[in-house]
Amino acid sequence: MTATGSLPAPLHDALEKVLGSSGLLTASSDMASYLTDWRNLFHGRACAVARPANTQACAEVVRLCAEHGVPVVPQGGNTSMVGGATPDTTGHALVLVTSRMNRVREIDPIDNTMVVEAGVTLKAAQDAATNAGLMLPLSISSEGSAEIGGVLATNAGGNNTVRYGNARELVLGLEAVLPDGQVLDLMRRLRKDNTGYALRQLFVGSEGTLGLITTAILQLQPKPKSIEAALCAVADAKTALALFAAFRNTEPSAIQAFEFMSGLSMNLVNMLIPDAALPLSEPAPAYVLVELASPRGGDALRELMEEVLGKAFEDGLVSDAVLAESETQRLALWKLREEHAEAQKRAGASVKNDVSVPLSAIPTFLDRATAACEKLIPGIRVAPFGHIGDGNIHFNLVQPEGMDGNAFLARDHEMMDTVANIVRELGGSFSAEHGVGQLKTYMMPSWRGGAELDMMHRIKNAVDPKDIMNPGKIFPAS
Ligand code: MLT
Ligand code: ZN
Repeated sequence: MTATGSLPAPLHDALEKVLGSSGLLTASSDMASYLTDWRNLFHGRACAVARPANTQACAEVVRLCAEHGVPVVPQGGNTSMVGGATPDTTGHALVLVTSRMNRVREIDPIDNTMVVEAGVTLKAAQDAATNAGLMLPLSISSEGSAEIGGVLATNAGGNNTVRYGNARELVLGLEAVLPDGQVLDLMRRLRKDNTGYALRQLFVGSEGTLGLITTAILQLQPKPKSIEAALCAVADAKTALALFAAFRNTEPSAIQAFEFMSGLSMNLVNMLIPDAALPLSEPAPAYVLVELASPRGGDALRELMEEVLGKAFEDGLVSDAVLAESETQRLALWKLREEHAEAQKRAGASVKNDVSVPLSAIPTFLDRATAACEKLIPGIRVAPFGHIGDGNIHFNLVQPEGMDGNAFLARDHEMMDTVANIVRELGGSFSAEHGVGQLKTYMMPSWRGGAELDMMHRIKNAVDPKDIMNPGKIFPAS
């Protein structure tokens, strides 16, 4: 019956009844890992961490919190790049962790769908689909930890967006707990359903500010029978885009991923990640990882890859390339792409600009943003990489060697604004796939102000008038 931290005693007791003592954490040592983000940028406090095991328990937790005016911060795998799942420093909020809701409930091979709970990791969901002879076509670097609830709440993009779209495009049905504790059941697996507002889409990309996603029905794809991956050395982004056009103009439906990596960023991977050696004879100014996939077997895909790359060599677009000869080699090539975020973390403090611009503007963007940042902070390591096939570049900036990391981060807004101003002139977005979280709320008025932000406010106020769900995210403090 004692109050723990700022958790009121009656709420503590009511929550313990719902969750059992193992589902409710209140000791600071037990809560610590839930209060800091993956990037180690945000260090929050909370009155408790709740770990419900099913939708009903989630609904009860949210209802009780709303009744006591306690904010709820939803958290999945805690892999946000923008502090989206970390509470503020007041200690008032309760962190609701969905990891115990980790069942793949059903896979239907006729509907090509999967019913999955919020706490299933993206990797576990992919594996379940693969084992059923199907494919969940969503892949991000943090898929081993990122959980479905967070993946949907942030409308994750990643490596396969170029072919299958963002998370939004894969969601047929959804179940969510509303800020007053009601359960909203939208679990319909229909391709056609024009019956008023598509409410499920309101939750996808809402970053937990409108409710808590608990279960989803995802659209699957046939599992590819052939898959080909190649790592190519290129001169720059312009050449990378010419190579993309060469694949697209030959067989657009075959491209499953088309990723760009700057030489500097790849160099950090080679230096700082064990077992990530470059399989090319010498380092290049930039690299492309292209993956083709087809539901048909045979040699056709290999021939396509060789035909397009052969011509690209002749045209001077590619100076060197390695084609994966086995699944192990394909995964080794992907390791060289997926470890960029980890390598940059090991290299020191970094500022992430997860931007998108029209494909045609990417070379200009990279030239202008690189020059501007090098002028702003001499010695800065400009280390861009990302999903160039869909216009999304991670224009990441790593601290100069020897500089104090905190002194570098103290200038994060200067760097972010310098990059964003160029992005704006080129008709892009300041956050392509990582969301707004708490890191980028300050940019919302200038980017999404006027009627757009006003409408977002009105939706938020209508659904969550007491500001219970994930306060301080997306919207700037008023
Ligand atoms: C990735 O694509 O690896 C992440 O979204 C990246 C990041 O900015 O670190
Ligand atoms: Zn990414």
